[in-house]
Amino acid sequence: MPNKRIVGLYPGSFDPVTNGHLDIARRAHDMCDEMYVSVVANPSKNAIFSVEERVELLKKTTKHLKGVHISSFNGLLVDYAKQIKANIIFRGLRAVSDFEYEFQMALINRTLHPKIEVVFLVPNEKFIFLSSSAIKEVANLGGDVTPFVPAVVEKALRRIY
Ligand code: PNS
Repeated sequence: MPNKRIVGLYPGSFDPVTNGHLDIARRAHDMCDEMYVSVVANPSKNAIFSVEERVELLKKTTKHLKGVHISSFNGLLVDYAKQIKANIIFRGLRAVSDFEYEFQMALINRTLHPKIEVVFLVPNEKFIFLSSSAIKEVANLGGDVTPFVPAVVEKALRRIY
């Protein structure tokens, strides 16, 4: 894409952000002129952190990514992508098990917004087994989550569980 300004959007629930998310955010950031990491604010019964808390944790843990915008959005992802003029949506792919859901989402999103490209990034192999839900379960059952999340997230989890 010669001379094209790349505005990237890395969306997710981030409940909470993990070292795996941060690895993908860093890789996406390296590929963009401007980059958004954005928390979906649509109601979710399973979220343990409020949208504001998730945004705050992302802000604290992405300080090393120069100029990154941390935000939240309501409604359809593609509408938010249009609003911020993003031309790439980034998603992390950890394993084959992620593929079906991600592929479906990518095709729906591209049908709704044909100008958007969806780019899948592969995390460092150290993180391919990580998920926010597994980390919440470990924290809930009293396990040590320090290998999986930044220190501020570990503290936030300890406050909840
Ligand atoms: O971290 P997650 O939970 O896998 O992220 C899922 C997310 C936020 C990317 C997805 O649920 C989403 O895009 N939600 C916004 C609503 C929307 O656009 N739905 C249609 C996508 S098929």
